[in-house]
Amino acid sequence: MTRRINKAVFPVAGLGSRFLPATKASPKEMLPVVDKPLIQYAVEEAAAAGITDMIFVTGRNKRAIEDHFDSVPELEAALQAKGRADLLDLVHGVLPAGCRCIYLRQAEPLGLGHAVLCAQPVVGEEPFAVLLADDLMVSTPPATAQLAAGFEREGCSILAVEDVPREQTGSYGIVSPSGATGAGDEMLPIGHIVEKPAPAQAPSTLGVIGRYVLTPAIFPLLAAAQPGRGGEIQLTDGIAALLGRERVLAMKVKGRRYDCGSKLGYLMATMDLGLAHQEVGAAFSDYLRRRGA
Ligand code: G1P
Repeated sequence: MTRRINKAVFPVAGLGSRFLPATKASPKEMLPVVDKPLIQYAVEEAAAAGITDMIFVTGRNKRAIEDHFDSVPELEAALQAKGRADLLDLVHGVLPAGCRCIYLRQAEPLGLGHAVLCAQPVVGEEPFAVLLADDLMVSTPPATAQLAAGFEREGCSILAVEDVPREQTGSYGIVSPSGATGAGDEMLPIGHIVEKPAPAQAPSTLGVIGRYVLTPAIFPLLAAAQPGRGGEIQLTDGIAALLGRERVLAMKVKGRRYDCGSKLGYLMATMDLGLAHQEVGAAFSDYLRRRGA
C-alpha cells in the first residue's frame, strides 16, 4: 500500500442544528470565519498536505459548497472589467491549484461512519484523510500534514487527539492508549476507542478531533457496523473494529483547534483569526482595546 495520501474525504451532510437558524437554508460548512468559509480552511489544509482529490460527501441543502469551489464566469468577468485583479486572484484561489473536487451524496443521515463509507467507491484501496470542517485547525505544519507525515513513517491509521476537559468527554470519541506511555509522547498506540462516553465512564480524556488518516481496511468494517450511539453508524465503532486487526495510533497534533461546531468555539476562532488578519487585524485590535475587552 502506498504511504502517500492523495485523497481527503469531507463529510458535509450534517444538519448543523447547533447553528440554527443560520443553517436553516445554508450549510454550516459555509459559515465564514472572517472572510473564508470553514470548508475552505479544511480544503486548504488538505492541499497543504499534498492531497489533490477532495471528496465531499454531501446531502440536502449543501449545493452552496459545490458552487463555492466552481468557477463563476459572470463574477470573474465583472471583476476583470473593474480591473480588480486582487479580488480575481482570491476567487481563482478558492480551489487550490492542482486539486479537483468530487461530490457524492449521502442520501440518508445515517451517521459519520456511513458518510465515510459512501466515499469507498472513489477512495478505493488507498489510505485517505478525513477532515471534519467544523474543527478549524490553526497550526504549522498544518494538522493534516502532521498526520500524513506520521502515516509516511508508520504506515497505519492515525487519529488526531487532544486532551479535553473530563466534563466534555460526552462530545468526543475518546481513546485510551495501550501500554505504558511517557507524558510527552506524541504518538500513542490506541488500545480502545469509545464514542462519547459519560465523564465517569471515559477511559481517558484524550478526545479525537476531526482529523484522521485511515487505511482502506476501515471500509468493510464500516459496512458491517451496527448502529451505535444516537442510532447512527459511527466512525468510532469502525475504528474500534479496526483496532482488532491493525495498529492504530493517536497523534497529539501541534496547534490550536477551534470547535466551530459550537457558538463559543466559532466566536473564539473569529476573534483570533480576525486579530491575525492582514487587512483588518490592526484595526480590530484597536477597536477591542478602546472598548476595554
Ligand atoms: C464526531 C465524531 C467524534 C469526534 C468529533 C470531533 O462527532 O463522532 O468521535 O470526537 O467528531 O469533532 P460530532 O462532533 O460530529 O458529533
